[in-house]
Amino acid sequence: MANASIAVLISGRGSNLKSLIDACADDGFPAEISLVISNRPKAPGLKHAETAGIRQAVIDHRDFETREEFDAALDERLQAEGVDFVCLAGFMRLLSDGFVDEWRGRLINIHPSLLPAFRGLNVQERTLDAGVKIAGCTVHFVSPELDAGPIIGQAAVPVLPTDNVSSLSSRILEQEHKLYPQCLRLVVEGKARISGAVVQYDAEIQCVGALLNPPTD
Ligand code: GRF
Repeated sequence: MANASIAVLISGRGSNLKSLIDACADDGFPAEISLVISNRPKAPGLKHAETAGIRQAVIDHRDFETREEFDAALDERLQAEGVDFVCLAGFMRLLSDGFVDEWRGRLINIHPSLLPAFRGLNVQERTLDAGVKIAGCTVHFVSPELDAGPIIGQAAVPVLPTDNVSSLSSRILEQEHKLYPQCLRLVVEGKARISGAVVQYDAEIQCVGALLNPPTD
């Protein structure tokens, strides 16, 4: 079967884009990135697309009067490209309900918290302020409500007493780079599917182990 065609949408650094590019470079990964779109002309992450020889496009949100017009331009480009799935990777724009409905089940996001905790912005700062002991990241299908769609996968990391925003962000990011490709694979292979408000997996997918913090021994 042909590889699924992916578009990755970014606004900034693009480290998750890089992890998806690296995953797609592996033989046997069932997807390839056809297009990277940034809403910011100077997004540093665009260089990862350039290095990998992946086509890139800038659709600058400032060129549009309304969110709907911007989303329509985005949709038009994605449809013209014939992409199968869209991965948001640090894409800092809210998407309109119409766009989200159009791409339902084919639109995926990564967020640096264990959702449904800490939706929105400044996640690591709020995580530290709340004194939680386990943080992490979530890959989920996008729904109209922000950071609230069916969860595909999560990775957990401990929050250490010495952590600041930078150290915690790095620990979470390291897991993001593993989790996003794994979840994309599950979705592309049809092994993780939306079922109402949650995701249903093929029976072969099994999880083991637990993370305790502070440790008990
Ligand atoms: C990541 O922490 C991601 O979870 C969030 O935005 C950040 C993007 O980082 N949505 P990068 O641009 O992929 O390096």
